[in-house]
Amino acid sequence: MIKRIGILTSGGDAPGMNAVIRSVVRSANSHGIEVYGIRRGYQGLINDDMILLHNKTVGNIMNEGGTFLFSARSDEFRTPEGRKQAWKNIKARGLDAIIGVGGDGTFRGLKDLSSEYPVNVIGIPATIDNDIGCTHYTIGYDSAANTAMEAIDNINDTMQSHERCSVIEVMGHNSGRLALYVAIGTGATTVLVPEDKWNFKEDILDKIRNYKDAGYNHYMIIVSEGAVNNDEGLELDGNVGEEVARLIKERTNLDPRLTVLGHIQRGGRPQARDRVTATRMGCLAVNSLLEGRNNRIIVHRDNTIKDIDIEEALEQKTRLYKQEKIILEELTGKVKG
Ligand code: F6P
Repeated sequence: MIKRIGILTSGGDAPGMNAVIRSVVRSANSHGIEVYGIRRGYQGLINDDMILLHNKTVGNIMNEGGTFLFSARSDEFRTPEGRKQAWKNIKARGLDAIIGVGGDGTFRGLKDLSSEYPVNVIGIPATIDNDIGCTHYTIGYDSAANTAMEAIDNINDTMQSHERCSVIEVMGHNSGRLALYVAIGTGATTVLVPEDKWNFKEDILDKIRNYKDAGYNHYMIIVSEGAVNNDEGLELDGNVGEEVARLIKERTNLDPRLTVLGHIQRGGRPQARDRVTATRMGCLAVNSLLEGRNNRIIVHRDNTIKDIDIEEALEQKTRLYKQEKIILEELTGKVKG
């Protein structure tokens, strides 16, 4: 019998996290279950920083970006001592389950907690990177892509007026999915992703030449922040966009301009897809607890939202899907692996 649950948001925030909290609170309350909002992610569990959430508390938050519970990455929770303290607070508050909203790191935290202490855990995927192996979609991805595309469309206007080359660095951590999605949506000249080793001539220079031959005089190079794999042995310690712009300047007669989109991609109002997916996932999390399923991750696969075992979920590796690979090959004109 579930009577009281806790919910936290952890890791990088993502548009739609507030919509998840709202959905969990409203569906839990409709079944007579109390929900505590745990503030600042796992650190809030350790510090017993929790507030009781009512239907009204979560009114008017669905349309807001960020997370009103705050998010954080907790080093202390990675230690057995930190988790022990968290468990003491869970027990004292009488929480029967913890719902963690975030990425891979958040899910690992849930798994560690549930394997050491008798508490049910449910993970809900929310990260702009869409880089979790067990799910085809993570809340926040579409909104972040829309924000990035709007910024890139603006850059494109001025780039076209000045007949320039732009290098735009997109977030994504070690995954190129966000960069590729955005590159497709903005008609980029080329895109560099972490999953493929890039070569300056083939993946940048030849693409620019092709565009030039086709009559274009402005070029947009989208670079995923994690695209460090290159076959020239360049060590790109996180400044991939800067290095790519430098190489273009040194090796062509173009004068590229670099824009690092950065955290602008994580903010802003969630788009319809994220609000709706968040709401559906939040409801399912509560239903899964009501139906007695333990230690689950909510996933979106093949147009279905369902819950799967946390162990099974964490075994699955992130990769570019076949369809995306094909698009990447078409966009960059290469056939690899
Ligand atoms: O995971 C989301 C994300 O925005 C990544 O794309 C990025 O690499 C990272 O978080 C940045 O984290 P921080 O905001 O802590 O610098």
